[in-house]
Amino acid sequence: MPAIAQKRKIPTKSTSSGNRPSRVVKPKPRKAKSSSTKAWGGRFTEGTHRLVEQFTASLPFDQRLYAHDIQGSIAHCKTLLKAKVLTNSECTRIIRGLERIRLDIRRGQHAFREEDEDIHMSIERRLTKLIGSLGGKLHTGRSRNDQVALDLRLYLRDSLITVKQGVISLQKAFLAQGRKHLNIIIPGYTHLQRAQPVLLAHHWLAYVEMLERDKGRIQDAYTRVNVMPLGSGALAGTNYPLDRSYTAKLLKFPTITTNSLDAVSDRDFVVEVLNTLAILMMHLSRLSEELVLWSSQEFQFLDLPDAFCTGSSMMPQKKNPDVAELIRGKTGRVYGSLVSVLTMLKGLPLSYNRDLQEDKEPLFDGLDTVTASLTLCAELISRLKVRQKVMAQASSSGMLLATELADYLVKKGIPFREAHSIVGKLVRDCLDENKDLSTVTVADLKSYSSQFRADVRNVLTPDGAINRKKQVGGTARKQVESRLRQVENQLLKSG
Ligand code: ARG
Repeated sequence: MPAIAQKRKIPTKSTSSGNRPSRVVKPKPRKAKSSSTKAWGGRFTEGTHRLVEQFTASLPFDQRLYAHDIQGSIAHCKTLLKAKVLTNSECTRIIRGLERIRLDIRRGQHAFREEDEDIHMSIERRLTKLIGSLGGKLHTGRSRNDQVALDLRLYLRDSLITVKQGVISLQKAFLAQGRKHLNIIIPGYTHLQRAQPVLLAHHWLAYVEMLERDKGRIQDAYTRVNVMPLGSGALAGTNYPLDRSYTAKLLKFPTITTNSLDAVSDRDFVVEVLNTLAILMMHLSRLSEELVLWSSQEFQFLDLPDAFCTGSSMMPQKKNPDVAELIRGKTGRVYGSLVSVLTMLKGLPLSYNRDLQEDKEPLFDGLDTVTASLTLCAELISRLKVRQKVMAQASSSGMLLATELADYLVKKGIPFREAHSIVGKLVRDCLDENKDLSTVTVADLKSYSSQFRADVRNVLTPDGAINRKKQVGGTARKQVESRLRQVENQLLKSG
């Protein structure tokens, strides 16, 4: 996946460069014609019903594939030249026509007409209008079935790079936060109960790890997207001597598909991408949940930037964490997209079936949702204000050090279970007397175990507790610093 390291601007709406959604012009109601005007209309005796045109059209949502469709068509055209199906001048005229159409669409000057059905037909119709019947030669040896498979793969290669860049930006935002507050200690939680002290940077780095795995999954999905299907025809292959490896080389695909039936009906790569997006979105949702919690009056750990919150129309005092809430909420959409494509695929016989057209909207929606959510998360994280005092106060409770006390006794030779029970009783008594563990005197401690000595004082500090966790993956400052450095170096390498 060499190209994926490139830097890309992350668009918030469309995931591909220069794709501007255009309106599809609906034709005025007309009477059914005596014969079809479609490119495939030869065997038909009447025109397509208006409702059927509406129902079957994918143009309103597949027009975003236009740039990749044209990219694929140009490569196909060159392959037809190599196969001597087209002459040099025919090839040049077709490519010029396609480039002109690309420009027109980019400028919003292409008329998208619903009766064209999909982006492939829309471009072909325009091409034939521009260069005459020669336009009709472009589709030689190709079907929309292998064409759409190619377009999706080309589109996804670009989109995955965009998503990966979004993940990297978010990782960088976490690293910057981690560096900024390397000394801040917070209570670490299990069951949402205060458990043991950890460094705030360690907490942020946990998200960096999740995102690192997400990047791995993007990379994996990319490998299976990056296979060239053209030359599979409608389902059986083609009658023309098309050099498929040449097409692949032109489009920078390292491999080609090896079964035409599979190539036109496989959407595993769509499922894999959506699965990757669903897991990534689950991570963003968990982060969002923490941002909501931590910025609440109950926690007060964080101040979210005003520009990323909204107010209440009724309660003047409110500042709501809507962005985080919406990312959490939109996670359902991405899960839904994954399930809808899986369900659409589960009953399909080989090979291409029109059901497959239903892959696009969930896929595009998933990509748009994740891309926008990543951009917003990175902005939110880099603008977070951390309430150091509240965090220090929350992590100062001696109760967070109960495990340290037990481990102290273990060091003195008491079996862990016994030590756990001794400290458990101590904690119970403290709770009954409304005392914090940090205020208990050494003399008092001795009444629970004769093994408690004056050196126990050194154990009872959050700093000490943190720095004893010095194994790889622990929250000791040295470990956290080393992981920060490792990830920073990795990110520098990947761009
Ligand atoms: N719009 C169709 C899709 O997205 C393109 C392929 C149509 N093929 C066909 N034989 N009707 O799947």
